[in-house]
Amino acid sequence: MPIIAPSLLASNFLQLQDECNMLNKSDADWFHLDIMDGRFVPNISFGPMLVAFFRKATNKICDVHLMIEEPGNYAEMFKAAGADILSVHIEACPNLHRNIQQIKSLGMKAGVAVNPHTPVELLKDILGDIDLVNLMSVNPGFGGQSFIPYTLVKIRQLRAMIDDRSLDVKIEIDGGVTEENAKQIIDAGAHVLVAGSSVFKSADPIAAIARFKAL
Ligand code: DX5
Ligand code: ZN
Repeated sequence: MPIIAPSLLASNFLQLQDECNMLNKSDADWFHLDIMDGRFVPNISFGPMLVAFFRKATNKICDVHLMIEEPGNYAEMFKAAGADILSVHIEACPNLHRNIQQIKSLGMKAGVAVNPHTPVELLKDILGDIDLVNLMSVNPGFGGQSFIPYTLVKIRQLRAMIDDRSLDVKIEIDGGVTEENAKQIIDAGAHVLVAGSSVFKSADPIAAIARFKAL
């Protein structure tokens, strides 16, 4: 059974309490919270203040995806805001191992996110230190983009790297996940599906989440 992590980026920000209540009632496992700084990605979303509101609105896991430069300067703020999992981008971290140690020493699970052009081989030496890989299946910055099919190859490669060493690392797929492609993504070896548009733009989000969960 996949872990389902709806991305609140696609929710209606004028009705966040309702959106949170809906997710709390649903089979969703995690809240996926997308942080964008207008520098690492060409868009700005929200920061720790809103994460703290989500933390108050749910007991589910808050999975915070930092699409920002110099994430080490903000790890403590996101911990204080209530993040359970904090992911940083490999492309933004010249001293990635230090970022991972910082996140873990703050008591959060540590994730590494990789852009579509970044080979999964680059994760080899850090894989034993992390809890999650966020394999981006679109170029980060916006919801509602189309899934890049080559991601399926990367999922298989990464899953083999994890299984060969019997590591406990989850593979999360982020971007363009739909009810049409989700089965293929899981069969390739993914554990976590992030879904923004396909949940929040659905006529019945609770039913859509249930269908993802039943895959
Ligand atoms: C993209 C974000 C994603 C995004 C997914 O930069 O990291 O989490 O919100 O949205 P959909 O599912 O609409 O592609
Ligand atoms: Zn994301």
